[in-house]
Amino acid sequence: MNNNIKDNFLWGGAIAANQAEGDFNTGGKGISTADIQPYFANAKPTDLHFNNIDQQHYEQYKNGDYYYPKRNGVHFYERYTEYIDKLSEMHINTLRLSIAWTRIFPNGDESEPNQSGLKFYDRLFAYMKKKNIEPIVTIFHYEMPLHLVEKYSGWKNKQIINLFVKYSEIIIKRYQKYVSYWIVMNQINLFDREGFASLGIIDKHDGNYLQDQYQALHHQFVASALVKAKAKLINPQLKIGLMLADNLVTPFSCKPDDVEAAFNYNRMQYFFSDVLLRGYYPAYALKFFSDNQIHIEMTNQDKKILKDNPADFLAVSYYWSHTVKANEKSGQPELVDNPYLKENAWGWSINANGLYICMSSYWDRYGVPMMIAENGLGFNDVIESDGKIHDNYRIAYHREHLAAMKQAIANGANIFAYCSWAPFDIISAGTAEMKKRYGFIYVDYDDEGNGSGQLIPKDSFYWYKDVIDSNGLMI
Ligand code: BG6
Repeated sequence: MNNNIKDNFLWGGAIAANQAEGDFNTGGKGISTADIQPYFANAKPTDLHFNNIDQQHYEQYKNGDYYYPKRNGVHFYERYTEYIDKLSEMHINTLRLSIAWTRIFPNGDESEPNQSGLKFYDRLFAYMKKKNIEPIVTIFHYEMPLHLVEKYSGWKNKQIINLFVKYSEIIIKRYQKYVSYWIVMNQINLFDREGFASLGIIDKHDGNYLQDQYQALHHQFVASALVKAKAKLINPQLKIGLMLADNLVTPFSCKPDDVEAAFNYNRMQYFFSDVLLRGYYPAYALKFFSDNQIHIEMTNQDKKILKDNPADFLAVSYYWSHTVKANEKSGQPELVDNPYLKENAWGWSINANGLYICMSSYWDRYGVPMMIAENGLGFNDVIESDGKIHDNYRIAYHREHLAAMKQAIANGANIFAYCSWAPFDIISAGTAEMKKRYGFIYVDYDDEGNGSGQLIPKDSFYWYKDVIDSNGLMI
């Protein structure tokens, strides 16, 4: 059988600090935005509760009598050697993970970093090296010091740029001997869906929320470009990437209005990578801002920073695909279900074809090296009477998506890594549940943090190991 995957391909998984580490106040760590995300026991599976919040909800979540799953994660902070050992048994050679900003700067604006936090990642990376697992590091993954939200209004405030760049420089300098690939911001394009987690801003209900979000996003763009500039001074060999959650859409029908709605929607999806890979705000975005009375404060120096420092690679997370039709009254794009696709219990459609299309589209547009930063299926797995987890649905999902990746490679795309989300079960980002499991390794904790903590390989564990051992031939 024909295999088109390069010998040095990175096979791995991806996790985030706030969903895995726990120990939210150990070693001087500060409180982060993720630490105040409550678990809602009776939520419908499709409900998301923590993306865009106002002051009232902020106070309620912060001070309420809830269980906060991300404070415990899956105890990766304490148990990282066990997790890394299991991953090493699966033969993965990379693990994408994030650093918790609050371990390094508990409040975000201290003059000196927290040594205990730095030492934790020294130990973790050294252990990964021993096990031949290369870290790919996300610098900012849906968590920031809560102090920066309260004192500075999060990324809306320009001062955050310098605080973030300082944090980034410290970790890049210190860990460069272990880490070659750095993703600055997780899924920068989901800024509006994840207003609190991604931007640290609170909806004041004063009519400026959209404006605030785009201004905050602009600060993230500038910070991303500055991190690239600083990293190259530290070590020109380092690779600095931007990351998108694929959100390109297909039109619901071939009705011209639906086709145009999809086209317009996609343009505003390319906006993020157009800015960070081409180095300037495209005309269609400026038109969108003037149509929506959005005024972004942007200096000439900001423009120069963007222009001079395009990202080195594009990381993409892909889970599901999206469809739009034109709203009958406004003509604006409106997300609708695709009747041809099945969904998981959380309403996420399953469509491997979309992975082939998006990776090929990004390649055709930018021609930069790409990695699949996340891809996986959330499922409420059960341990069966034989003590095992027979997750053939997950194997089928990854098999189809890997075939789609190979199809994109066959058509020219330069893809250098595939990271499953997540190689072991961790807390869900959106719903803070444990039962939305993605792992090849079952982690025996429940939604309220109870359980033995045992790590049990699922059937998919053995399947993925064979995929890796055959460098993608045996999918
Ligand atoms: C991605 C995030 O959007 O989706 C991850 O980068 C997240 O942090 C993943 O866990 C899956 O989403 P969820 O809500 O099912 O955990």
